[in-house]
Parts: sequence; structure tokens; C-alpha cells
Amino acid sequence: FPMDSIQLLASDRSAGRKLFVSHREIEVKETVSESFKEIDIALFSAGAEISRHFSPIAAQSGAVVIDNSSAFRMVSTVPLVVPEVNPEDIKWHKGIIANPNCSTIQMVVALYPLHKVNPIKRIIVDTYQAVSGTGSAAVDELTTQAKQVLDGQATAPHVYPHQIAFNVLPEIDVFLDNAYTKEEWKLVEETRKIMHADNMAISATCVRVPVFTGHSEAVNVEFSQPMSPDEAQRILAQPQ
Ligand SMILES: NC(=O)c1ccc[n+]([C@@H]2O[C@H](COP(=O)([O-])OP(=O)(O)OC[C@H]3O[C@@H](n4cnc5c(N)ncnc54)[C@H](OP(=O)(O)O)[C@@H]3O)[C@@H](O)[C@H]2O)c1
Repeated sequence: FPMDSIQLLASDRSAGRKLFVSHREIEVKETVSESFKEIDIALFSAGAEISRHFSPIAAQSGAVVIDNSSAFRMVSTVPLVVPEVNPEDIKWHKGIIANPNCSTIQMVVALYPLHKVNPIKRIIVDTYQAVSGTGSAAVDELTTQAKQVLDGQATAPHVYPHQIAFNVLPEIDVFLDNAYTKEEWKLVEETRKIMHADNMAISATCVRVPVFTGHSEAVNVEFSQPMSPDEAQRILAQPQ
């Protein structure tokens, strides 16, 4: 990616740490309101609360914010973009562009080429999500608990409500009034927004599995017209 300079921002916990970017050592700085002057593109991935606070400040300073958190995804004035699906939505941004939940991204990238040929009526998706999606503290928790279980010791969950090692948790984030979890409802709403398909019927079951990286999904799709497996494979094999 062509760039003249890069700044690394974090909390005061990491300020002063040195990291290498393209063989150059760069000092991490604490994020403050003045951090975004002279910044063209600000990539945010520090959680929704931090994004809600600093993204508008960065946008007002003239940066285009690309936000990895859930803070702005469903805000009607913020485009929610997956480059392989709806790159044209970038055009109407007002300083902030959101990117979706990880489970949404991988599903729409696979389904959109099929949807263009034969519009999707209904999706039923089950996810098997790795702990990396929760952040570095969850990766540490799985490592610690796996060792404890193999050593015959008791485990104490902190990040997740129950033990994650050698277990599956069919509850990602909190339950909503509609009986879906927040993670499941993100898959539903975000998919509709990205694919511009407000009436697409979608049901999701999201499960956390004791895997470090790599989310998997089983997706059952009903198209407007019959679609054979051969035809779906032919479409997906074409370069998009
Ligand atoms: N869209 C997706 O596909 C996807 C996938 C995974 C995660 N996420 C989202 O990405 C975000 C981060 O996830 P992660 O796994 O990278 O978490 P993480 O490993 O816990 O990292 C969080 C980062 O945020 C920084 N931070 C925390 N408080 C801050 C503050 N007050 N000011 C500035 N920086 C601060 C931390 O800096 P310190 O080191 O100083 O604490 C750290 O660099 C979450 O919102 C998560 O939901 C999105």
C-alpha cells in the first residue's frame, strides 16, 4: 500500500513500545485527540467504546476512518463495506467507513457471486468461531485452560462465561429480546445492509469453539430459482 508515513497508536499501556513496520522501528504513542492531525487514513480496531470516542474526532481532523468495531456498522449514514461485495458504498462515506463482523465478511464474500446470478431468498447459517475473534485475552485464556485441563487442574473462566478449553459455547455475546444473541443478530442485519437486501430471510446460530484462529461456517441457502451444486461450483470457481 503506498504510504509516506505511518503512526502506531494504542493506550497508555503500550505507549513507548517499539514495533517494526516494513523493517522500520516505530514507537507506539498513546491515542489522544490531537493524534489524527495530518492523518489521511485511520484504521481503528480497539473496541466499540474507543471507536465511538475517537472516530468522530479523527474524521473531523480530516482522516478517513476505517472502523473494525461494531460501533457504527448499523448507523444509516455510515457505509458498511466488504470490498468484494459493495465497494461502491465507499463513495457516500462522511468520514467513517465500517467493516463488518468477521463471520459476516466470510459469508457474504462466498455468497455474493451466487446472489448476483440467482438472488438469495433465505440463509440459515451456523458458525464455529475461533477465540481470536474475541481478542488476545481470549487466546491466552484458551492456552491456559487447555494446559490446566491436561494437567488435571480446575479452570477459572474470565473472558468467557464458561470454560472454553475442550468445550463449545453456543452463546457469543449477550442474548437479545428476540432470543438471538447479539453476534447472531449482527450476522442477520449486517448481511442485509451489505447486500442491499432488506427482506432477505436469515437465521444464524453462532458457536464459539476451542480453536485459536480461523472461523468456519455451514451455510444453507435457498435461491429464487433452483441452483445445482455444479452451477454453484462453476460460479464460485470464476475469478470475481
Ligand atoms: N471485524 C472483525 O472481523 C473483527 C475480528 C476480531 C476483532 N474485531 C474487533 O476488533 C477490536 C479489537 O480486537 P482485538 O482482537 O485486536 O483486541 P485486542 O487484542 O484486545 O487489542 C485491542 C487494541 O486496542 C487498544 N486499546 C485499548 N484501549 C485503548 C485506548 N483507550 N486507546 C487506544 N487504544 C486502545 C489496545 O492497546 P493496548 O495494547 O495499549 O492495550 C490494543 O492494541 C474489537 O472491537 C473486536 O470486536 C473485529
